[in-house]
Amino acid sequence: AMRLIIDTDTAGDDCFSMLLALHQPGVTVEAVTICGGNIDFDQQVENALYTLEVAGKGGKVPVYPGCRRPMMRKPIDAEYVFGEDGMSDAHYPRAHQRPEASHAVQALIDIVMSNPGEITILAQAPLTNIAAAVVQEPRFAGAVKHLWIMGGTDNSLGNVTPAAEFNFYVDPEAAQIVMNAGFACTLSTWTLSVQDSGILAAELADIAALDTPLSRFFTQVNQASVDFSMARYGVGDSLHPDALTCAIMLDESLILESGDCVVDVETQGRLTRGYSSVSSPRLPAQEVADPELGSATPANARVIRRADRAAFVQMM
Ligand code: BDR
Ligand code: CA
Repeated sequence: AMRLIIDTDTAGDDCFSMLLALHQPGVTVEAVTICGGNIDFDQQVENALYTLEVAGKGGKVPVYPGCRRPMMRKPIDAEYVFGEDGMSDAHYPRAHQRPEASHAVQALIDIVMSNPGEITILAQAPLTNIAAAVVQEPRFAGAVKHLWIMGGTDNSLGNVTPAAEFNFYVDPEAAQIVMNAGFACTLSTWTLSVQDSGILAAELADIAALDTPLSRFFTQVNQASVDFSMARYGVGDSLHPDALTCAIMLDESLILESGDCVVDVETQGRLTRGYSSVSSPRLPAQEVADPELGSATPANARVIRRADRAAFVQMM
């Protein structure tokens, strides 16, 4: 059994990740926390509430609005990928459920600290809420069972700049705080997403042909990503970084290759803002003399290097 909090900047793929978790037997989604990122903050809250309703969980999972902007930087959005409403401009009706009055950071701290070692967090947005929880409650990181992060790159091209992926680029200071906070943590990068989270045009057509309420929701909300991919890369596939991260979390047999690495985040660079430095995998302690490793800095994250795309597509 898994007790889960999803931290999300709910638009497009964030919704599909939520749907995977909400439909997984044995997983209890204890809360959804919203962090500034993809689109207008209040619209993200609405999208999360609507997605719960689509999953048949309306009124059953509290949604807490959190940090509306990054710690130090001006907000940057991704409306150009997901549409103005984040849902390919489907303009869904307002959900019946309303957001909680209390703040996401307090909710994260309260839920985790009253259930130490029990709560898994899936962080699929800029890391502002998680970093704020770390700053406010020093025992927070140690009390989280496992933190799954969609963010950063594996020393490869980003999606916002050549150096950086969106979630780490938007709030690099938060990402740096989180990566150095001592979480038991797994990182699912943009590099992995480019490689293994694509759903091909023919597979998207198979999903559409199911013609169920969920498949219609998926197809509609995914349309802006498909259009974006077509315009930028000339292919009608779409990438699903958040959903892949969630799928791996729900079924770790999807992990084909991973390594325990030292990950840190660049906050000073001009061209490298939000760059995630990922070391080569750390060897077992007794082999730490490897000269390439230099000082024996311990690994702080398991980095996923290869995932089972076909199995992911089946789950979707
Ligand atoms: C990440 O950025 C967001 O736009 C997506 O939802 C995903 O979390 C990919 O870089
Ligand atoms: Ca996201």
